[in-house]
Amino acid sequence: MGQKYLITSALPYVNGELHIGHLVGCWLPSDVYARFCRARGRDVLYICGADEHGTPAIVGAAKENMPIKEYNDKYYEKHLRAVSDFKLSFDLYGRTHTPEQEKLIHELFKRLEDEGLIEERETVQPFSVDDNMFLADRQLEGTCPKCGYEKARGDQCDNCSATYEATELLNPHSTISGSTNIEMRPTKNLFFLASKVEDDWRKWLKEHAPKWSKTASAIAMGWANEGLRDTSITRDLSWGIPVNKPGYENKVFYVWFDAPWGYVSISQAATDDWESWWKNSDCFYAQFMGKDNVKFHSVFFPEQQLAMNDNWKTVDMLKSMNFLNFEGGKISKSTGNGIFLDEALTIAPSDCWRYTLMASSPETDDTDFTMARFTDIVNKDLNGMLGNFVSRVCKLSNKNFGDVVPNGNGIDKDLETKINEKLNDLTNALDKCEFRDAVFALRSLWAIANEYMTVKEPWALVKNGDMVGAAVALNECFQMIDLFARVSAPFIPDAAEKIQNIFEIKHDLSWPTKYEHRIANGEKFVVPENLFNRIELTEKTNE
Ligand code: 2FM
Ligand code: ZN
Repeated sequence: MGQKYLITSALPYVNGELHIGHLVGCWLPSDVYARFCRARGRDVLYICGADEHGTPAIVGAAKENMPIKEYNDKYYEKHLRAVSDFKLSFDLYGRTHTPEQEKLIHELFKRLEDEGLIEERETVQPFSVDDNMFLADRQLEGTCPKCGYEKARGDQCDNCSATYEATELLNPHSTISGSTNIEMRPTKNLFFLASKVEDDWRKWLKEHAPKWSKTASAIAMGWANEGLRDTSITRDLSWGIPVNKPGYENKVFYVWFDAPWGYVSISQAATDDWESWWKNSDCFYAQFMGKDNVKFHSVFFPEQQLAMNDNWKTVDMLKSMNFLNFEGGKISKSTGNGIFLDEALTIAPSDCWRYTLMASSPETDDTDFTMARFTDIVNKDLNGMLGNFVSRVCKLSNKNFGDVVPNGNGIDKDLETKINEKLNDLTNALDKCEFRDAVFALRSLWAIANEYMTVKEPWALVKNGDMVGAAVALNECFQMIDLFARVSAPFIPDAAEKIQNIFEIKHDLSWPTKYEHRIANGEKFVVPENLFNRIELTEKTNE
């Protein structure tokens, strides 16, 4: 087996419907990367799952008037459905409300306590007099102390990604009752003494952040300038991982204390061999997430990992995406703006979404996705460049040479040079997790094939009686078709499998280091169904 690669995709909360923003933000890039790594013979452990704790689950269940566990089951099923619909190749799509997660968190908490990094502190927390309870995180809403956004949550602002203590929120009100009758009352919570590991963390960050995606390292360096704060890791809530300390029977751990460790407990559920990734300094660890998760993965989680002093594998490549908007606005179920995953497949098959979304990855900025863009890319790239090429080659060949690959005459050197250049670009882009560049290189490979056809005109050669010349050109095209199955597979796995099935012999979809001829003269093939169909622009109206 090759080098160990650990790949994690941020664990989405169980609340609400999943939409294309979730796909592009972490699921698809991590899946493309995982498939690419496996194709290169790397030993991959690829993990994701549902984040079942925290106020998102509490608030969501209350809204639907369901017990939290049932509510979580309902949405977990929806997650599983989307995972299978969009061909996400996780080794395990797990969840965080499990005995394994509880056991792990309890052990880790003890370890931090033993290291002298936990302190009980009395703080004042927002207490809703009308609801007769302390309000945590999303149970509280108000004005962001950093940017003035009026619908900021108790712990984090959706507008500017700032995180803060609930007491800092301006004009707070309860999201349960709407009441503004909020008092600050004393309560005891446990704090993780991040300031004690600050030096180690800074040294670590300086070494690691330059290798991350630009957005992620910029956000992390921004936090480094602010200095580390000791963070409260318990909450006055009844739903979550119970705190294993006397006196804390009515509290649970903060969701962001347990969630990242969910990667570990889900790995444990996936394989007995989990330590060969998680406790192995030679392993390469890549994390994928939206930009609002960067702080927790670049500061909070690694601080704890370093503090444990127990050889935990920390992140080598932190890839974060900006936000995807839809038709000029924020994606939101309540306004009906966006494409939700249960309806996406009624518009087009999963490969179309996978490819168009990766081609529109919000890597450098927030990006607007539109149905016009979607239609254009499907019709031009997938149907026009890839689908038509494969179909024309197979049909023309079948008509003139029967159901066997016509005889070739070795690699066309010019073509080989051109292809290898773009193949290198594609490999390098994927290695660096630069997905727009990767799609560009992939598309360039398809363009080279179409140009080859246009220049060689095998149909004209046939017409002029040059059957040897036509055979050589078509043979070269079949070799490119084989190449396309391999290099397209991480992006459009269904189409890649259809291409693979064109040939009677099942050629593996390993990642090519260079262009090569793998298809023998006279190998049998079948003319496939259309790989893609043209689609019409559908107006997505707000329901
Ligand atoms: O933003 C979110 O949806 C969080 N549930 C992500 C958690 S990522 C990891 F730490 F679990
Ligand atoms: Zn803000």
